[in-house]
Amino acid sequence: MDDLSRRSGGRKAKSVVFTAEQIATRVASLGREITAAYPDGDLLLLGLLKGSFIFLADLVRAVERPLQVDFLVASSYGSGTVSSGNVRLLYDPATDLAGKHIVVVEDIIDSGRTLTRLVELLRARHPASLAICTLLDKQIAPEPPAELRFVGFHAPPAFLVGYGLDHAENCRHLPYIVDLD
Ligand code: PRP
Repeated sequence: MDDLSRRSGGRKAKSVVFTAEQIATRVASLGREITAAYPDGDLLLLGLLKGSFIFLADLVRAVERPLQVDFLVASSYGSGTVSSGNVRLLYDPATDLAGKHIVVVEDIIDSGRTLTRLVELLRARHPASLAICTLLDKQIAPEPPAELRFVGFHAPPAFLVGYGLDHAENCRHLPYIVDLD
């Protein structure tokens, strides 16, 4: 854990949950799944910022078919630390979504509220299809979105940081995922 201490300013982790090697292997596999799932049509990967930025960057390089990339910035408001389900878009993708196969790329599904609401907003843009790719799924969402199609790992119910996930905006740059609980 010397590496974690150096990179995170002395934070201590309970355990490494996913190593950089495990993540790389799974992301390569997800890239193959996405390549195979979309033999035709226009494909747009929409990364939900900020948490997805590292995953998205690695994932798009593992997809071996033409695609476009854009981003979403969503804000969950109405309560403090718990996702409220009231989601609005702070950055709306500049790309036209109509008629395209859309894959929303997310770092983690916790309560599932953010994605459930986002799916409603994106459906209104008339994509050819809509799917969700998440690196981590805690599997605690009471009603996971039906569009959830690609899952990297099932994640433990812990405070996970690294590979895009943050603790008060820190630790996103860790190349592995650790449990800070
Ligand atoms: C986190 C995470 C998901 C969402 C999951 O985002 O990236 O988008 O919460 O929670 P839910 O399933 O309970 O809705 P956060 O709001 O922390 O923003 P970030 O991506 O900038 O870290």
